[in-house]
Amino acid sequence: MVLVTGGAGYIGSHTCIALHQAGFDFLVFDNLCNSSLESLKRVEKIINKKIKFVEGDIRSKENMQKAFEMYEIDSVIHFAGLKAVGESVELPLKYYDNNINGTLVLLEVMQEYNCKKIVFSSSATVYGDPHTTPIKEDFPLSCTNPYGRTKLFIEEILRDVYRADSDFKIVILRYFNPVGAHQSGTIGEDPNGKPNNLMPFIAQTAVGKHEFLSVFGDDYDTIDGTGVRDYIHVVDLAQGHVNSLQKISSLDGVLTVNLGTGNGYSVLEMVAAFEKASGKKVAYKIAPRREGDIAACFADPAYAKEVLGWSATKELNEMCEDSWRWQSNNPNGYN
Ligand code: NAD
Ligand code: UFG
Repeated sequence: MVLVTGGAGYIGSHTCIALHQAGFDFLVFDNLCNSSLESLKRVEKIINKKIKFVEGDIRSKENMQKAFEMYEIDSVIHFAGLKAVGESVELPLKYYDNNINGTLVLLEVMQEYNCKKIVFSSSATVYGDPHTTPIKEDFPLSCTNPYGRTKLFIEEILRDVYRADSDFKIVILRYFNPVGAHQSGTIGEDPNGKPNNLMPFIAQTAVGKHEFLSVFGDDYDTIDGTGVRDYIHVVDLAQGHVNSLQKISSLDGVLTVNLGTGNGYSVLEMVAAFEKASGKKVAYKIAPRREGDIAACFADPAYAKEVLGWSATKELNEMCEDSWRWQSNNPNGYN
């Protein structure tokens, strides 16, 4: 049985579908602090199966032990965490407590129940401002905000756990920019309040929730001066977790892998692609650069192909079409 922490969230809910399709039995553990049960209800409809769910906080040993008592868990996909960069700057202790302390408790309970396989959600943010692109896994690591530091620290913690006990099998997945939604249009990203990330902001502008998109800077050294990122369809990303679980038993050491497409698109290219896919106009205004942003970030995806047999299959137009289907069918998200 696979324990999916944070499985009610954006990437977790899509991964539940991929796990089901690959024949894995799983249970979701989530405290619903940034999600709702509605996402899991909709996943149940898609897979036509009831989902095992334990409501709890990863920081609570009792809550975690309850899940391990109820089910025979042999591996964990660990999505649970807070992810808002700006909030992490305002409230660093909240992020260190939730993300780092939560992971420590999870690892302790895993040890207690002799469960030693874990796939962890890291982020391309651990590369800081890369000296060159595309980004390879052995590039230097750094970070510019508390959220990023939680990812970097957890990566180090996992490497120490392996050094102390080489029975542990650990996969660290560094996601680039997840976008898109399941093609049913019934599940997707449902940010709280005004979105910080580009794709949900574009989608909400297209549906009429915002007057215009602020493009943060047009004077970067990129194709058109706007920031370039590696957008990856969430369904492809979900499949990366399945491949990781399929390979994890044969691992030696800690495997750290980029999950990206290898293609970089600028903000203005994203606006144009979304307009084409949705048939809607996305008004925008050039605004100052956002503090902490970098010019360009995209993956070298070769290692993922080599070690996980995984590569992204979905192109930009499909990412935009699927985001639009979710957004236009659910203008208020899961509410
Ligand atoms: P999300 O907020 O939609 O999902 C996270 C889930 O974890 C939510 O359902 C939330 O309720 C749950 N959770 C948070 N703290 C918890 C706790 N203490 N106990 C139990 N459950 C808890 O986010 P997402 O986009 O699906 O991201 C999943 C993971 O991937 C996160 O760790 C995030 O940092 C990482 N990540 C996300 C992105 C991105 O752009 N979406 C990029 C890189 C990495
Ligand atoms: N952007 C705008 N206007 C907006 C929002 C974003 O112009 O309203 C621009 C940004 O300046 C950047 C690009 O769109 O050039 C993408 O921005 P996002 O906020 O969508 O994504 P980031 O690459 O800045 O950061 C995201 C997550 C981080 C994660 C990182 C790497 O928010 O948590 O990807 O995975 F660490």
